[in-house]
Amino acid sequence: MRLTFTIQRFNPEVDSTPHPQEFRLDVGRGMTVLDALIRIKNECDGSLALRYSCRSAICGSCSMTINGSEKLACRTSLRKELDRHGHIVVAPLRNLPVIKDLVVDMAPFWEKIHDVHPWLVPGSRHSHEGVPAQMTAWGHANPQFHNVDACIMCGACVAACTVYEVSKGFAGPAALAKADRFLSDPREAPSATRARLSALQSEDGIWDCTRCNFCVEVCPKDVKPMEAIIRLRRASLERGLTTTGGARHILGFADLVEQQGRLNEAIMPLKVVGFAPRGLLRILPLGLKMLFKGKVPNPLGHAISGLSHLQALIRRVRRATPLA
Ligand code: SF4
Ligand code: SF4
Ligand code: FES
Repeated sequence: MRLTFTIQRFNPEVDSTPHPQEFRLDVGRGMTVLDALIRIKNECDGSLALRYSCRSAICGSCSMTINGSEKLACRTSLRKELDRHGHIVVAPLRNLPVIKDLVVDMAPFWEKIHDVHPWLVPGSRHSHEGVPAQMTAWGHANPQFHNVDACIMCGACVAACTVYEVSKGFAGPAALAKADRFLSDPREAPSATRARLSALQSEDGIWDCTRCNFCVEVCPKDVKPMEAIIRLRRASLERGLTTTGGARHILGFADLVEQQGRLNEAIMPLKVVGFAPRGLLRILPLGLKMLFKGKVPNPLGHAISGLSHLQALIRRVRRATPLA
């Protein structure tokens, strides 16, 4: 079968902007997108730049945008892409600077990983007593431990992240999943865990994630970075790290539902910013706008009927999971 491939080309030495280029190639059964790209490079245009190594979905280097979403080219079937989209369009990963054609600069990605201190800070020997050798870490009851450890650093999640797209300071899904990997490791010292979590309370940390789920959708190794971020948030609340807007939003939301059985948009901003004058001034324009549009509900609110049943339910859940 003869197929047309549209590949985004960019050579910084001659091009001012990226541009698409079409290649036609005879393809056989069972070929992957990477197989086709290698043949295009070998048979049509040796100047095509792409990165790959293992060809087995292990090294993470062939991550790119295929038909609009982030994938490993070496495990993406041409046939399936064609059946689903009717064409093959290949571009470099988004959100990372392009060096040439399909090769991106991973330095910003590695900087974020480095920033979360991706190494174990062990506790004292005493704190390990009772933990069997070879550690229960590897067969630890916490199933997430292995999950986050499966990351191959392909960068697909960062390329798909809607927050990283607009805010390059954001730690990003891969780095935060890496931080969670150490949180889940029983060998790490509790003081180190606390320091790790404290650092993640910053403006570009765990509370910046909007939970869009794209990182989960594109990850080829089922790392589920967003779920790792939720675990980091829960661990922060458990340790009393509650001064950020994100933490206050969660706690305020839960408070309101417990008191009135519903969210009250008139009170919620106060729960988040508190009564600090600077915070109040910041939300005043939005509050006034909502007021003029008749969107501010009665601050005293009114409880839903059957509130006592809901409260009893919440009390039971709280007893079972203290932070719920
Ligand atoms: S869930 Fe959070 S970390 Fe994942 S892609 Fe969305 S904003 Fe980024
Ligand atoms: S979390 Fe998944 S998508 Fe992100 S770098 Fe690791 S393997 Fe790739
Ligand atoms: S070439 Fe290694 S993951 Fe694709």
